[in-house]
Amino acid sequence: MKVVETIADLKSLRPRLAEPVGFVPTMGYLHQGHLALVRQARAENVSVVASIFVNPTQFGPHEDFARYPRDPQRDLALLEKEGTDVVFMPSADEMYPPQFNSWVEVGKVAERLEGAARPGHFRGVATVVAKLFNIVQPDRAYFGQKDAQQLIVIKKMASDLDMNLEIVAAPTVREADGLAMSSRNTYLNPEERKQAVVLYQALTLAQKLWSQGEKDTKAIRRQMTALIQKQPLAKIDYISIADAETLDELDTVRPPALVSLAVRIGKTRLIDNVVVG
Ligand code: PAJ
Repeated sequence: MKVVETIADLKSLRPRLAEPVGFVPTMGYLHQGHLALVRQARAENVSVVASIFVNPTQFGPHEDFARYPRDPQRDLALLEKEGTDVVFMPSADEMYPPQFNSWVEVGKVAERLEGAARPGHFRGVATVVAKLFNIVQPDRAYFGQKDAQQLIVIKKMASDLDMNLEIVAAPTVREADGLAMSSRNTYLNPEERKQAVVLYQALTLAQKLWSQGEKDTKAIRRQMTALIQKQPLAKIDYISIADAETLDELDTVRPPALVSLAVRIGKTRLIDNVVVG
């Protein structure tokens, strides 16, 4: 496994990678959710490139960029075990030199939900992912359904800007009790960790209500809200039931619908989602 820290080195190595090339972008502190993406990329491609880069431009000024968990040595060992061929691990200066001044803005689908709660977030995500695609030139890139809106934003960018690759979606990997794996779960203390399962419970409730014939999104959201409010440390940021492609909010569930939510457990903001239908 080669570890590469500069754009020039990655570009000079790229012609020697046998195709097709599968690419898994990450911010590191890897867990089984990330590794499932690497495994799928490994199974579907001849070469696998992963990146580890905690991208400063997708964090708001009061967010957790500085304390985002990092453990590159452990990450590299895990990636090596999964048969990764190349790991791209640039510095922030390498990706954003002082004169850097171009940005990728994806429209409507990036403006709601996470985009509304975290202004500038998807501009940072789209810009860094566009840069990574240009540097790595993958045939396929792998993204988790865990970040459903991110996946929609990346697909829209790739399609609108005629990028020459396939965006592959992979299912959300969960802990035994249903909590979606996330690098941010490490922020939770034991009591918060227990209460965090309520995100998944609320999504499961939504699925159950829908399968029992409830189509009124207000009624579904009301029951999800009541369930979450039983946890004293949980504070709802949003609960959304939207068209799974356009992210337009729905009054009546019309499948495929994306049920997504953001909830603060103590100081930690968690997101999760399911698709119904
Ligand atoms: P990060 O949060 O490290 O996630 C990297 C990839 O792993 C994303 O595609 C994410 O959706 C996926 N992932 C995270 N948790 C998962 C889980 N429990 N199950 C399945 N997949 C999961 O997302 C980012 O980094 C960044 O925004 C990035 C795309 C790298 C751009 O900076």
